[in-house]
Amino acid sequence: MEDKEKIKSQISKLGEKYKDSGQDLSSYLDGLLHQRYLTYWDYIHLDTLLSLQVPRTHFPDEEIFIMYHQITELYFKLILHEQKQLVDDKSGNLDFFIEKLRRINSYYTVLISSFSVMIKGMEREQFLQYRMALLPASGFQSAQFRMIEIYATPLENLVHVSERDQYSSESKIEELYEHIYWKKGATDVTTGEKTLTLKQFEYRYTPRLIRIAKQVKNATIYHKYLSLPSDLKKNESLVEALKTLDINANINWQLMHMGSAHRYLRRESGDIEATGGTNWKEYLPPSFQKIVFFPELYSDQELNNWGKQWVDHMLNPDKSKMK
Ligand code: HEM
Repeated sequence: MEDKEKIKSQISKLGEKYKDSGQDLSSYLDGLLHQRYLTYWDYIHLDTLLSLQVPRTHFPDEEIFIMYHQITELYFKLILHEQKQLVDDKSGNLDFFIEKLRRINSYYTVLISSFSVMIKGMEREQFLQYRMALLPASGFQSAQFRMIEIYATPLENLVHVSERDQYSSESKIEELYEHIYWKKGATDVTTGEKTLTLKQFEYRYTPRLIRIAKQVKNATIYHKYLSLPSDLKKNESLVEALKTLDINANINWQLMHMGSAHRYLRRESGDIEATGGTNWKEYLPPSFQKIVFFPELYSDQELNNWGKQWVDHMLNPDKSKMK
């Protein structure tokens, strides 16, 4: 009897819901009657997901390479999902800020610790062969990786370190974008010619990246921090979470990623060219890029030593440990 009463009340509420929007409850109940039960595989589109690994060669390890890139892109999407909520948040609530950063950091922790799937998980001989079928594609062309940077910090902090002091928040977005660090990394210093990898990326993504940069002008995660009242800015958990994000995104992930470049592309007699055509040994090290999302949080000395673990490791591999 109680159940019947409950169902009656639910139907009457549904009736109101559909009436309010000019719909007919009875038709919707028919729809419910005929609808199939939801399954796990339909809900997460499993068949589609598992059909997206399409190697271009017969080397079995190429599938690992594809899948790990896809996994990383999904984590990048999770990171952006949290970043967008932070950027949109108007409440200024400190707990919300810290919780979002904590989630982002937990995603980075997974990415950093799982990079062994690349570093140790493929045969070098296979990699060096199947990569030739992938030219001129490169992870360099990951648009989500660039978006994460644009949501985190104003564009002037992403200008190449050699020119960064010539620009400020007053500079035009288009001008800052033209001098962003990764464009310089993929441009031949002597001829000024951009790599094909860069040209294709620019053609595909420039309008979108510029649009996002304009949308978050004065509203990046760094701006969110800078605009907090001074007592909240000193909050230890917040500062710790921001620094951890900076170090995860701009040092630790980079160092793990470089570990794979070293495993596969380093040779006694001259290094192997990267598929994206950068001078990767000079382009990739965080100590050379010096990308820092939240510079106000560090001392001058910390900024000068940014990512220096890599340099120490290269000079003295036995003594230093790259985590
Ligand atoms: C065997 C594994 C890998 C090797 C040898 C490798 C190598 C390289 C190299 C040499 C570059 C410099 C650009 C170029 O000239 O191509 C680069 C850039 C990049 N790769 Fe990888 N990579 C590997 C795995 C990955 C994975 C799994 C991802 C995940 C998405 C990734 C994302 C990136 C990104 C985002 C950049 C640009 C970094 C920046 O601008 O600082 N790479 N990679």
